[in-house]
Amino acid sequence: MRMTADPEVTRVLGLAQRIARQAGAIQREHFETGVSVATKSSSIDLVTEVDHACERAMVAAIERERPGDGILAEEGHGREVAGCEWRWVIDPLDGTTNYAHGYPCFCVSVGVLRNGRREVGVVYEPLRDDLYHAVRGAGAFRGSRRLAVSGTEDIGAALVATGFAYDVHRSGENAACFARMLEVAQGIRRDGSAALDLCYVAAGRFDAYWEFKLRPWDVAAGILIVEEAGGRVTAPDGGPPPSDPASIVASNGLLHEQVRDRLREP
Ligand code: IPD
Ligand code: CA
Ligand code: CA
Repeated sequence: MRMTADPEVTRVLGLAQRIARQAGAIQREHFETGVSVATKSSSIDLVTEVDHACERAMVAAIERERPGDGILAEEGHGREVAGCEWRWVIDPLDGTTNYAHGYPCFCVSVGVLRNGRREVGVVYEPLRDDLYHAVRGAGAFRGSRRLAVSGTEDIGAALVATGFAYDVHRSGENAACFARMLEVAQGIRRDGSAALDLCYVAAGRFDAYWEFKLRPWDVAAGILIVEEAGGRVTAPDGGPPPSDPASIVASNGLLHEQVRDRLREP
């Protein structure tokens, strides 16, 4: 584990990494075993028993070790604490549709805010045993390897990722942007895990990523990981990334304006 100067940050990072690994172990154990699936906001917004089991285990560990911290968790097992210094923002399983179909692309995401500012981010991809982390001002890492965004300068040479919100059947909002990006990018991927998309930008695997209407738990860790790897994350209009819904453009920085231009209505 990377040490930081502040022992409190080191403790928070250590706990975030432990609970991410713990949830990842639950995901590995039940992957492709036929878990029960229910729907949430729409017929394509899924939740499995594994999402709930991961979240319960993570929340219980935080409550045990840090009873004064707030917890925003996607499946509703968290608890808000008025005036807390530390607030955990948890996606217990990012990529639930993939998980439910046995498609091997999903992760655990843990972002921790200190007085409202992103301080620690951890993402764990259990099938690869890849643990990403970032601490504000201390860089981003996969395992012990420091991450750096790509050096791609031209969108024609860029591998770009995106995703679609769960109201896609009704809104189709991203379809026109997707079509415009197809005309210029070297390639587009839609893998189904926003937190991993962001980590892959940080790792230089993707050159850029955009998505509309994400939720806080999708991006709480990934935004910090991209920024600490030298990348840039903004709203599509170039302002600071909004918190909820979080429509964002993430890139290596060099491509940022080219990506934003392409997403804009002609
Ligand atoms: C979803 C995934 C997906 C993205 C959706 C998210 P979930 O999260 O990150 O890639 O396109 O917008 O809601 O539901 O699997 O945790
Ligand atoms: Ca998610
Ligand atoms: Ca989720």
